[in-house]
Amino acid sequence: MTHQSPKTNSQQSPSDISSSKSNHISTYNPQQYWTEQGKTYKEQFRYNKDFRLQEQMLIDYLKRIFPLSSSLTVLELGCGFGRITKLLLLNFPNIKEYLAVDLSQHQIENAKEYVRPQEIIIKKKEEKANPDIKFLVSDIQSLQVDKKYDLVIASEVLMHVLPSEINEVICKLVNLSNKHIVNIDWYEKQIPKRVAPHNFIHIYEEIYKNIPSITLVNRIPIEKKKGWLSSKIDAKQSIFHALK
Ligand SMILES: C[S@@+](CC[C@H](N)C(=O)[O-])C[C@H]1O[C@@H](n2cnc3c(N)ncnc32)[C@H](O)[C@@H]1O
Repeated sequence: MTHQSPKTNSQQSPSDISSSKSNHISTYNPQQYWTEQGKTYKEQFRYNKDFRLQEQMLIDYLKRIFPLSSSLTVLELGCGFGRITKLLLLNFPNIKEYLAVDLSQHQIENAKEYVRPQEIIIKKKEEKANPDIKFLVSDIQSLQVDKKYDLVIASEVLMHVLPSEINEVICKLVNLSNKHIVNIDWYEKQIPKRVAPHNFIHIYEEIYKNIPSITLVNRIPIEKKKGWLSSKIDAKQSIFHALK
């Protein structure tokens, strides 16, 4: 997310992103790539100011949508080592069910350890919540789930889906949701010239709007204006929120 090495996970420079509209030809095999990355992703991950802003903006935004007074079910796709999983579970004591999915077995094992459901349950005891937290190894494309969730969320995942598959993948997210679909992804209007084979800028708003059941799409840029004491942060990412 900051523009430092290693550039093998989400921490690439914007110039490493390719456009789903470009004629980008690559040998990128998402399943193979993320299975391999999953083995070291957690060790290589470094928190920085961009991640802190991303998480803060996500929580602030979701708190405006989901009142803590009503219960909530969540499906997270591409959960990685559980960064967003834990963030949401700790900030929303009203979550009664959470299914976290990733194609990498290693990432799912890391997520089980990082999220530590027991810890979450203990923290939530005062609120008398006892969330049902499940982890599942699957890619989005072959995921079989026979129910819908109040919130379907994917953070820094769709940018790694091949342009040839992105429409179908987004349709699947929409079909698995009762109302709200949120994705966080790299987004820049000006498409960078240099690209890495595993990154794509998809035109998310357009894709959502072309799905008949979608009534509204919001894009919230993850940036913080310059203040007196702090410099401007521009994560070059956006929160995309589609509603049915
Ligand atoms: C950049 S990481 C983001 C992890 C986490 N969501 C976060 O924000 O910290 C991308 C994750 O998506 C997973 N992933 C990529 N493509 C996927 C797919 N088609 N289906 C399921 N998981 C996928 C990878 O295995 C990896 O764990």
